[in-house]
Amino acid sequence: MEHDWIDVHKYASQDIVCQYQPWGPNTEEDSKGFVNQVIEDANQELRTRFVFAIVYNAYMIGAGELNIRDLTNKVGEIAYIVNPSYWGIGIATDVAMLLIDFGFEELKLHRIYATCDPRNIGSSKVLEKVGMTKEGRIREDLLIKDGWRDSLLYSLLEHEWKKI
Ligand SMILES: CC(C)(COP(=O)(O)OP(=O)(O)OC[C@H]1O[C@@H](n2cnc3c(N)ncnc32)[C@H](O)[C@@H]1OP(=O)(O)O)[C@@H](O)C(=O)NCCC(=O)NCCS
Repeated sequence: MEHDWIDVHKYASQDIVCQYQPWGPNTEEDSKGFVNQVIEDANQELRTRFVFAIVYNAYMIGAGELNIRDLTNKVGEIAYIVNPSYWGIGIATDVAMLLIDFGFEELKLHRIYATCDPRNIGSSKVLEKVGMTKEGRIREDLLIKDGWRDSLLYSLLEHEWKKI
């Protein structure tokens, strides 16, 4: 929804949320632009981007995202972000599992991957908790605020995915 930018802005404007990301901290215009882009991408005829609002106690407290990166080879990438007021209670883990279920069940993907900064302990724990395998470390693949950033690469394959 267009007015979701207000809730997006509550977390995306915080340094701690985007310290390992190439974007942010968001200005109001950045947060509005993000939401408008999400709406535009959701309306593409051949949709490859799926962004879900995380709603907790009737508040939007984050977002989970699945992008189809390769249609031919059925590859998708997941990502998530949670408002710091709600960190540490299992929300990102639940969201990652829902995104994985969505990718394999609805989109019929074969491989789902995710990357995170090696310093992002919370995110790497999430990816391990949902059963992803660490494939390795991509060197200096992202330019962020404090310089070039390595990424840990995690993945889950269709035949490794089990409904819990
Ligand atoms: C990374 C992030 C999504 C984790 O969200 P969360 O809802 O707090 O994660 P969970 O509660 O599911 O935690 C999963 C595990 O990580 C641990 N954890 C979470 N944050 C942590 C931190 N900063 N340091 C160490 N461990 C952490 C939790 O304790 C939990 O482990 P446990 O089950 O052994 O106790 C959240 O910190 C965030 O939004 N960060 C900013 C955006 C971001 O980095 N997104 C990921 C991009 S790769």
